[in-house]
Amino acid sequence: MAVLESINLGIVGLRRGAFAGLRLDGLRLHALCDADPARLDKAVAQHPGVERWTDFNEMIERSKLDAVLIATPMPLHAPQSIAALNRGLHVMSEVPGGVSIEECRDLVLACRSARGLYMMMENMNYFRHVQIVTEMVKRGMFGQTYYAQGEYLHELKSLIVKTPWRRKWAVGVNGITYGTHSLGPALAWMPGDRVESVSCAGSGHRHADHEGRAYEIESTCVMLAKTTRGSLIKIRQDFLSDRPSCHKFVLQGTDGAFETSGIDGATSKVWLRGRSGGKMEWRTLDEMADEFLPDLWRRHGPTAAGAGHGGSDFIQLADFVDAIRQNKPSPIGIDAAMDMTLPGLVSQRSIACGGIWLSVPDSRLW
Ligand SMILES: NC(=O)c1ccc[n+]([C@@H]2O[C@H](COP(=O)([O-])OP(=O)(O)OC[C@H]3O[C@@H](n4cnc5c(N)ncnc54)[C@H](O)[C@@H]3O)[C@@H](O)[C@H]2O)c1
Repeated sequence: MAVLESINLGIVGLRRGAFAGLRLDGLRLHALCDADPARLDKAVAQHPGVERWTDFNEMIERSKLDAVLIATPMPLHAPQSIAALNRGLHVMSEVPGGVSIEECRDLVLACRSARGLYMMMENMNYFRHVQIVTEMVKRGMFGQTYYAQGEYLHELKSLIVKTPWRRKWAVGVNGITYGTHSLGPALAWMPGDRVESVSCAGSGHRHADHEGRAYEIESTCVMLAKTTRGSLIKIRQDFLSDRPSCHKFVLQGTDGAFETSGIDGATSKVWLRGRSGGKMEWRTLDEMADEFLPDLWRRHGPTAAGAGHGGSDFIQLADFVDAIRQNKPSPIGIDAAMDMTLPGLVSQRSIACGGIWLSVPDSRLW
């Protein structure tokens, strides 16, 4: 594919998708799309000259686009990605990649025959502290990594009322419905590995919705995941319990350990044998940031600072643009996206069958 001087971007879903109005070299915001005309008008007013569309299929058919960013509700990610890929566009899709194994398979097949890149927007992988640990792993500082834990705890009961699709897709299904934020970093820290089987259990149905109906999802769900190399990952998801929100991570390797709390990783602690002076004592991650901050963050960190989710939204968009313009592989391509998405979908079958271990398909074989 020829190198693009500037990428014409269309965005669909203008609540979450509105973040992408940021200035980025090589990217031009060309069209905005939302089924809600009032939300669309508001977004268009902030970007004079940008095209305005209420219908996604019309936009991708008639607008002069190179890429689309899909930030619509979960069940639209796979169908809209497939439609855009089939029209030769590059696609950046919100998480998860799909809401059923069947539509994930359709998405994988569409990617295999597409000219454009597919990237799943797992922005958790782009947080500064996650990227520093990823760099440490890449440089072998943790030795062999064999245990990781990811927790996404975010009380969403009032947001669920405002966005009814969440009632069905985030909390209307039991098991891990939105696991990629937790699994994404865990897998980045076990390079070359994938989840082979999962078992899922819940803490019981402790909450009811605003109409008094018990949520189908148990209040806290935990998925245990075994990888092909025999490592273990524990994922916890909770959208209902009353508590402050957080993304928490733990990593254990033969030569290092990492623990975080807080959404921005401000309180992260690390122990690396090679930097320990022979002592088993934590150091703050920030003390080692200078040595391990990856190039992507060095280049874009200052611009990203004011952007959403600790700058991660901007950094991942920059990585997508770099990949398109430099003809590089997608930073989170379809197989990585499936490695993060499919275990959660299988966990929903496991919890329905009393937590039995079930194998997770490998999209590379589809
Ligand atoms: N990565 C993150 O940190 C993060 C954060 C928030 C949300 N999300 C994900 O982003 C997606 C959007 O979440 P949200 O909170 O913005 O949801 P939302 O319901 O607030 O907004 C979705 C928008 O999509 C529009 N829309 C719905 N159907 C459409 C269609 N067929 N065509 C065009 N527009 C349509 C709606 O009008 C609305 O403006 C979800 O998948 C969510 O899980 C990710």
